[in-house]
Amino acid sequence: MNIPDKFGAVVRIGMRDSEFGYFRCDIYSLVSLSTFPMEVLNHKTVFITGASSGIGAACAEAFAAKKARLLLCARRIKKLVSLAERLKNKYNVEVHVFKLDVSESGAVQSFMHQLPDEWKIIHILVNNAGKALGLGPSFEASLDEIEGMLDTNVKGVLYINRQVIPGMIARNHGHIITIGSVAGKWVYPGATVYCASKHAVRAINEGLKMDVHGTHVRVSSVDPGLVETEFSKVRFAGDDDRAAAIYAGITPLSAGDVADAVIYCATRPAHVNINEISLMCVDQSAATMVNRKE
Ligand SMILES: NC(=O)c1ccc[n+]([C@@H]2O[C@H](COP(=O)([O-])OP(=O)(O)OC[C@H]3O[C@@H](n4cnc5c(N)ncnc54)[C@H](OP(=O)(O)O)[C@@H]3O)[C@@H](O)[C@H]2O)c1
Repeated sequence: MNIPDKFGAVVRIGMRDSEFGYFRCDIYSLVSLSTFPMEVLNHKTVFITGASSGIGAACAEAFAAKKARLLLCARRIKKLVSLAERLKNKYNVEVHVFKLDVSESGAVQSFMHQLPDEWKIIHILVNNAGKALGLGPSFEASLDEIEGMLDTNVKGVLYINRQVIPGMIARNHGHIITIGSVAGKWVYPGATVYCASKHAVRAINEGLKMDVHGTHVRVSSVDPGLVETEFSKVRFAGDDDRAAAIYAGITPLSAGDVADAVIYCATRPAHVNINEISLMCVDQSAATMVNRKE
């Protein structure tokens, strides 16, 4: 539905469903109060890590809706292929998917060389791949859990950055948007290693903004609280009941809510750098302060 807003410009309001099982109301305002033009995403190449589920998949859909070209990676290639088919059909956009474990330095080092030439210029990088493994005292965490979190959440971001950012610097254009967490600001019980990894991600982003100083490359961090995705299922090693209990009695953020914040960062006028967006659902007021209905 198109309706004029109070500025006389057109605001589109619509309901649409998505594969994530929720309905939402989108308001795309064509009005900007900035005197500078908003960044346009059509035909920009957006590289999203960890796009096979949750926030990464929702970001892929949000950028596809803006007619961007999508470069998507994760380890579960089948999920990426089916997401790509759906987005191509629905939005008529180009999508290229490939299997990549961001924690494998060798694989990350070679992926840029293996990309077809038309996918080598990346305008926007969404560093999203990440995970929490287990919930308990850090000295009882297994080595697999410790290494899994640090290798993916911290080293993975650094490995990807060093492949993608030099091209952005050479072109003097680009945007790195990293999905941090409120766990990058607060520590909560049982999540010492995960919080340490997201504190590191926060430091990496703050430092990165200084690393690219003097260029037109932008650096943003989007830091959510509780988001209902496969995150808790992964944390509890596939235990659906434990995962469901995390979101019981609250209305958590959806993956799409986070994707909206990512799109906000990406569409600001070129001279504007959104440093960080922190968002939580209304039912959450601190990392473990959650208002659950009986
Ligand atoms: N959900 C929350 O409450 C929440 C809150 C704050 C921040 N976050 C952050 O949001 C990001 C996305 O999480 P999510 O909630 O969307 O969880 P999710 O549904 O479990 O998605 C995680 C994504 O990361 C990918 N991934 C994991 N390890 C990978 C690796 N080694 N290499 C490449 N891809 C990998 C997964 O794909 P494959 O398994 O196919 O590789 C999947 O696509 C993470 O950085 C997480 O820390 C989540």
